[in-house]
Amino acid sequence: MVQTASSSQMPAAGKAGEALSPGEARKAGEAGRAGEPLISARRLTKRFGAFTAVDGIEFEVQPGEAFGFLGPNGAGKTSTMRMIGCVSPVTEGELRVLGMDPATDGPRIRAKIGVVPQQDTLDTELTVLDNLVIYGRYFGKRRLSIARSLVNQPALMLLDEPTTGLDPQARHLLWDRLYRLKQRGVTLVLTTHYMDEAEQLCDRLVVMDKAKIVAEGSPRQLIERYSTKEVTELRFDPETRDRLDGQLAEALRGLAERIETLPDRVLLYTDDGEAAVAAAHERGLRPETVLVRRSTLEDVFLRLTGRSLIE
Ligand SMILES: Nc1ncnc2c1ncn2[C@@H]1O[C@H](COP(=O)(O)OP(=O)(O)OP(=O)(O)O)[C@@H](O)[C@H]1O
Ligand SMILES: [Mg+2]
Repeated sequence: MVQTASSSQMPAAGKAGEALSPGEARKAGEAGRAGEPLISARRLTKRFGAFTAVDGIEFEVQPGEAFGFLGPNGAGKTSTMRMIGCVSPVTEGELRVLGMDPATDGPRIRAKIGVVPQQDTLDTELTVLDNLVIYGRYFGKRRLSIARSLVNQPALMLLDEPTTGLDPQARHLLWDRLYRLKQRGVTLVLTTHYMDEAEQLCDRLVVMDKAKIVAEGSPRQLIERYSTKEVTELRFDPETRDRLDGQLAEALRGLAERIETLPDRVLLYTDDGEAAVAAAHERGLRPETVLVRRSTLEDVFLRLTGRSLIE
């Protein structure tokens, strides 16, 4: 049974994805009726006893999209993904996946999707996937999980925090792999708490917090809707902060559309960051460091929830 590793076998796992032409992907992923989304959720709810992990969320995923759930720990991302993957029953509401009902068509749906769970679940059963094991020895466990999920040439892939725990180089490699899959017509549904991952990979995403969806759109739309073009980050030395005794926001009032005071810095939300810096100087404020940057999804999350995404 055991195959020997030879260099010619190495790309075998990658080919599982490459063998899928866009046409095949579309065909394999065809929803029950033409024009129907690949996934649709109405008032989708998951409860564990009295605790509500997913609270009446609504979303649709269209064929060929890269769709993301962005949210902090405990937001309900995995609970949602497990319902989509038909491994956790829906408590309430409606869910359709590939035009089918997970409650009655779980096995048929599971046969058509590729799943990369949050926890790697590779085990001894993998002897049947010897070439993947060999691949995995070279490229690491996480990528083996992903390679395995491609075995049935899925038209829909569910990826729960695909790059958590990977080093930056491996993350970028994986982003590239996922991008190529998407180009082949594979629909990607992923969760992440990395804003840069969401910005890089997702055509559209929902921001989840405390079991609910708090916003939906493309990364660009979300930034336009909930933030300003630029953000100026000001860091003040401890003496200045003590002298102003929590009145920093007051001292900066009027310099930006919105001001967020974080423990270590103040964020000025304005379309012209440099102008805000100059105005602060005119008021005699001397920040230790100044950074003018463009808005990110982190700013969107902060605006929507009052909290930072990275805990
Ligand atoms: N089997 C379970 N029984 C009880 N509570 C659960 C169960 N699974 C999840 N929860 C709770 O539901 C909430 C949502 O969990 P979930 O795993 O969906 O969050 P998440 O967004 O995936 O978070 P993370 O970023 O940490 O993976 C959490 O408060 C979690 O403790
Ligand atoms: Mg999770």
